[in-house]
Amino acid sequence: MSDHDKKFFDTFMLVIGGMVFVTLILFFLARSMSGDTQEQWTKEDPAYKAATEARLKPAGYVVKTGDAEPVAAAVAAVDVEQAPRTGAEVFNEACAACHVAGVAGAPRLGDVAAWNDRVAQGMDTLVEHAIKGFAGSAGYMPAKGGRADLSDAETAAAVEYMVEKSK
Ligand code: HEC
Repeated sequence: MSDHDKKFFDTFMLVIGGMVFVTLILFFLARSMSGDTQEQWTKEDPAYKAATEARLKPAGYVVKTGDAEPVAAAVAAVDVEQAPRTGAEVFNEACAACHVAGVAGAPRLGDVAAWNDRVAQGMDTLVEHAIKGFAGSAGYMPAKGGRADLSDAETAAAVEYMVEKSK
């Protein structure tokens, strides 16, 4: 390398270094400025505050006996127990999927021949099979039609409805 080249190279590196230095200064200056200005605004933004509050809010709270109002509110918030559904309602919700078209060997609603022998077992047996599930020669009847949320009484009402409609 000639002397001339070396000098050029040194100056060049010096200029590049200076520019990098200025860039860094600008970078940190901008950061500290935004920390004092924009960041403050962001943190005071109601939407941001609401989101933070929602993230930090407790999952539940203890109601002390004696605090009448929160107790009443908490009780009101709990889902009111549903009135028992009628046999027809339960059938349409939980049983119709199989027992209307005869899916997987299910005896169809209104199919007198298919129900005669079953009814001959007696209502108690039919209800028990509906509640506990039943694997017969025709197929598999899941307990409560796969609807564990049904009460025994609701299931029994649905069986009664099916038998009544299949005589
Ligand atoms: C996933 C399909 C399916 C659903 C849903 C279903 N069943 Fe069944 N059910 C069957 C099948 C299949 C049979 C026939 C089983 C056999 O005899 O092999 C059957 C049979 C029965 C029987 C006759 C049992 C016996 O002893 O002969 C009753 C009663 C019955 N179901 C009631 C219900 C009620 C009530 C519901 C709704 C709560 C319901 N099923 C929902 C498939 C279903």
